[in-house]
Amino acid sequence: MALMLWIKSLHIVLVASWFAGLFYLPRIFVNLAMETDAAATQRLLQMARKLFRFMTFIAVPALACGVWLFLVVGIGQGQGWMHAKLGIVALVIIYHAYCGVLLGRFQRGENKRSHKWYRMYNEFPVLGLLGATLLVVLKPF
Ligand code: HEM
Repeated sequence: MALMLWIKSLHIVLVASWFAGLFYLPRIFVNLAMETDAAATQRLLQMARKLFRFMTFIAVPALACGVWLFLVVGIGQGQGWMHAKLGIVALVIIYHAYCGVLLGRFQRGENKRSHKWYRMYNEFPVLGLLGATLLVVLKPF
């Protein structure tokens, strides 16, 4: 029981750190999409690369702690809220991977999207975090 609460706390802290990156990386993309100065672009690209590396590094233990709570402790097994949460988690992982695709395009100078598009894109992780948290706390079904 005590171990479960430690892992759950770790899960919450790691998920919060992961989402800090999911919120901030697209903000760097907004700036990159507007930037015209070559030196400033290189600086933003370096920030984006480092942030993406950190986010990917932190996402692995964040997810592993959740998987441990689910598979080893058995919390949420066979319950609708958990299946819905896993669906949201899958979408967040796809979003994370797509951030990597977008970063690659910026690095090759191939970005075609406007800063407005990145501002919209930036809103998705908010919905993911809200949905996953409401499901796990309210357990509505
Ligand atoms: C987008 C990724 C995720 C977010 C935002 C997230 C969010 C949260 C939050 C806020 C809690 C604490 C709720 C509480 O106990 O009051 C929690 C607990 C939990 N999470 Fe995650 N999580 C994520 C990924 C995962 C994954 C991948 C799994 C399993 C495969 C998972 C399984 C669990 C379990 C079993 C609990 C304990 C629920 C309970 O004690 O009732 N989570 N999660």
